[in-house]
Amino acid sequence: MKITVFDTKPHDRQYLEKENEAYGYELKFLESRLTPDTARLAAGSDAVCAFVNDDIGAATIDVLVEAGVKLIAMRCAGFNNVDMRHAYGKIHVVRVPKYSPYAIAEHAMALLLTLNRKTHRAYIRTRDHNFSLTGLLGFDLHGKTVGVVGTGQIGRCFINICRGFGMHVLAYDPYPVPNADYEYVDLETLLRHSDVISLHCPLTAETNHLLNSETMKLLKPGVVILNTSRGALIDSQALIEALKSSRVGGAALDVYEEESEVFFEDWSDQVIQDDQLVRLISFNNVIITSHQAFFTREALAKIAEVTFLNLKQFNAHEALENEICYRCPEYGKGCHKEKGKPCFVIRN
Ligand code: NAI
Repeated sequence: MKITVFDTKPHDRQYLEKENEAYGYELKFLESRLTPDTARLAAGSDAVCAFVNDDIGAATIDVLVEAGVKLIAMRCAGFNNVDMRHAYGKIHVVRVPKYSPYAIAEHAMALLLTLNRKTHRAYIRTRDHNFSLTGLLGFDLHGKTVGVVGTGQIGRCFINICRGFGMHVLAYDPYPVPNADYEYVDLETLLRHSDVISLHCPLTAETNHLLNSETMKLLKPGVVILNTSRGALIDSQALIEALKSSRVGGAALDVYEEESEVFFEDWSDQVIQDDQLVRLISFNNVIITSHQAFFTREALAKIAEVTFLNLKQFNAHEALENEICYRCPEYGKGCHKEKGKPCFVIRN
């Protein structure tokens, strides 16, 4: 089987090549992102392997189908960058639904601890022999209320970590976990009562700009916002205004609405054109990381393992256990496919 791997960094190559030792597939690694312009580079491949910021809209899908590609293997959990409706019936899509929820949940907590206790600023100060504490005041997490939006695998992991810190948890999810040992509330209650809000829901039409200028009016003044899910869950301009007015006391963002233009690359020698991103970075109570929450050794190994399992099942015409299609509303809820059958049969 031939696979073209798009948007490849050295670490992707390292982990995918190691896993491929057991399979011996023909891998073509490309640094370019998958876009309508680069899709034709996959001609002759059975599958493409793609990542979070690839542009897999209708135009890209048409070029892939035209080039004879039958499978898009996402090496990530989210698939909001794939036009699933357009792909249906033409090209199968698989993903890695679960690799290390711990990696993302632990990064969310790392961001919260850093933002709150300002260790990033202290580190720079002491290196400059500045031992002043002024401006480094934080608050106890113990006893504070954390609002968790989305209680899937990552959200639940994050809840467990927060409870280890003695935080009170409020959760919101349209599909609550039955018999949960934490409290579910409606979204408005969560927004009004949380000292910290962490987003762990997928990006869908419904969750796009979940935090916007209207919903931000409900927030407890000084709330800390964490987003390790998808950038467009937050209206960036509304966040900037809320930070300026101190309605929001801090924000830690591992994802950003327009990240596909900037993240994962070194722009340190150039002028960033995205004014909103630069404004956000300029706040001393904002931390931005470059979509790195998933970036642990365990997660990369698991992503490679499941990606090859997906490819093997496709190659052997077996049921694709990690196939997704547009009929999986909200990531797998209400699936229509028959057990052991693909979501559809490609009609040539
Ligand atoms: P999951 O599918 O296990 O859980 C998502 C949860 O969100 C589900 O319980 C679902 O019912 C809930 N949900 C759906 N619509 C909602 C809404 N309108 N409001 C509130 N909750 C809603 O997914 P998982 O593995 O926990 O991942 C969550 C998100 O984390 C992914 O969608 C992805 O965007 C993001 N992610 C980020 C990574 C990073 O490196 N920063 C890495 C992996 C995932």
